[in-house]
Amino acid sequence: SYETITAEANAQGHKGVTLLTINRPQALNALNSKVLEELIDAFAAYQADGSQLCAILTGSGDKAFAAGADIKEMSEKAAADFFLDDFFSPWTAEIVKKTRKPWIAAVNGFALGGGCELAMMADFIIASEKAKFGQPEIKLGVAPGMGGSQRLTRAIGKSKSMEMCLTGRMMAAEEAERSNLVARVVPHEELLAETLKTAATIAAMPPMAVIANKEMVNSAFEMTLDQGLIVERRIFQILTASEDKAEGMAAFIEKREGQWKGR
Ligand code: HXC
Repeated sequence: SYETITAEANAQGHKGVTLLTINRPQALNALNSKVLEELIDAFAAYQADGSQLCAILTGSGDKAFAAGADIKEMSEKAAADFFLDDFFSPWTAEIVKKTRKPWIAAVNGFALGGGCELAMMADFIIASEKAKFGQPEIKLGVAPGMGGSQRLTRAIGKSKSMEMCLTGRMMAAEEAERSNLVARVVPHEELLAETLKTAATIAAMPPMAVIANKEMVNSAFEMTLDQGLIVERRIFQILTASEDKAEGMAAFIEKREGQWKGR
């Protein structure tokens, strides 16, 4: 059991869906070292559990997904501490890189600074109408440190990203959808139900194909078009050797649901 998050496998009866919730509503779910430590553990457990195939990360309470890295904790650190500890490095190294199965950020309110950056680490974002995104670090005399300048720019382009980072302004859900930062905006009260439904759809897919699709799309951000097309084609070719490919195609032809083996 955790202090700052909750984790539920087969969340609310949704088979294969793990729900992770940041649970520091009194601090608007600000991300301190304990949250990081516990999320690393919870993501590793999700990745290791063969019965789970899609995760959701959300924030508790009605106001925030996460209002950023914990400013009180950071205010006590010296530059040498940030540098020597390579502060913020584990978010990408331990969570993004080691989680091969998909996870969705369900953004239920403020996603600011590290909170916006954490949401952008997810495979995609579903946002409530009340969601607000921003990189306000400049107002604290610093700058994004968990990927904001890179992932936001890739998501919404230079002009909007530059404006957001330089002014620290917030972007509302409607603009975030128009700017391709989020996959979908849903009514606030329906956020969790809608995200659970989407996650359950993914969790019902053939597992190797789920992991392969995630890997392929991510390749588009890491390599040239030629390299990415080769990765795609090779992964496709490998999947054709799976039992689930034979089952999936047979099920289509026989007009029935596929029964996945995960092999
Ligand atoms: C620590 C935080 C926090 C944060 C909010 N709180 N954000 N604590 N770190 N990032 C705490 C407040 O101190 C307060 O606690 C409680 O949460 C409620 O916040 P309020 O400000 O009273 O709420 P409200 O007036 O509704 O304003 C909401 C808000 C504001 C607009 C989201 O809280 C805000 O601007 N927060 C900071 C956002 C931010 O700058 N994030 C980026 C952080 S830097 P108390 O105990 O006082 O009641 C970052 C990466 C840095 O993420 C990289 C640099 C290396």
